[in-house]
Amino acid sequence: METRSKETELSWPGFTEPFNAMIQGASRGIGLAITRQLVEDSTIGHVLATCRNPNNASELQSLFEQNPRKLTIIGLDVAHEKNIATAADLAAHLTSQIRLLINCSGILQDGILSPEKKIEDVSSDTLQRYFQVNAFGPLLILKHFKKLLAPKDRVLIGNLSARVGSIGDNHLGGWYGYRASKAAQNMFTRGIAIEFQRKNPDFICVSLHPGTVKTALSEPFRDRINPAQLHRPEDAAMCLLKILSNSKPIDSGEFFAYDGTRIPW
Ligand SMILES: NC(=O)c1ccc[n+]([C@@H]2O[C@H](COP(=O)([O-])OP(=O)(O)OC[C@H]3O[C@@H](n4cnc5c(N)ncnc54)[C@H](OP(=O)(O)O)[C@@H]3O)[C@@H](O)[C@H]2O)c1
Repeated sequence: METRSKETELSWPGFTEPFNAMIQGASRGIGLAITRQLVEDSTIGHVLATCRNPNNASELQSLFEQNPRKLTIIGLDVAHEKNIATAADLAAHLTSQIRLLINCSGILQDGILSPEKKIEDVSSDTLQRYFQVNAFGPLLILKHFKKLLAPKDRVLIGNLSARVGSIGDNHLGGWYGYRASKAAQNMFTRGIAIEFQRKNPDFICVSLHPGTVKTALSEPFRDRINPAQLHRPEDAAMCLLKILSNSKPIDSGEFFAYDGTRIPW
């Protein structure tokens, strides 16, 4: 495997010794790219990667085979709260305090689900699916993994959101379920930031827009995208980690794009 030079490693202000990280939704796309980056980062002690079906996550499995001591993979489906609770109990036996947690899972389209173009396309079933994964998922992760987070020291939480979840930035309409589930996720992120910072002033939780990234999620919608604005997952991963690593307590509860600019709610 290609080894990154020390010069390309991130700096982690506020961390004096190696610390543990968790990536939720690590099977592919941006989550896999972030996991790769962290496994190669010497400041990171241990990486806990979770995904729905570890047996089907072939690239994550081969990363594990190359780094069996640094990486642990456990199964976790964010659409099922009992499954999240079981995964958190298992994680508590496998890793010690987590200081960096990134929620990457998300759905926009699959064989059945497709973003709505008009109100007639909206259904209770599809809205529930969008909200279950995109909005409730990251919130329930925080509920059940709270016991693994450092109670006092610097803690960084990144929830992968999307610019289209910005209410102020919605000039096109459509995509009701995806947009609204990401807007709800942003509200949950703000709530977590406020609640957790009351006990730990060094707790930081932010919403992150990764840009348009060349993954399965964006694949059907790339026709009208300028190729210069289409990012590789590894570049998006690096940008998001830089924002997180440099974030300050005052940034907690805010919504940032991959280039560090703030996005309106
Ligand atoms: N790509 C973009 O242009 C773009 C733009 C804006 C925002 N985002 C956001 O960035 C995040 C990552 O997207 P991506 O582009 O990397 O998408 P992706 O390649 O399609 O990956 C989506 C990830 O979410 C996981 N996932 C889906 N449902 C899950 C569930 N119920 N439980 C656990 N994991 C689940 C998938 O796991 P499986 O392998 O098990 O399906 C996969 O790891 C998402 O939150 C997305 O909304 C992406």
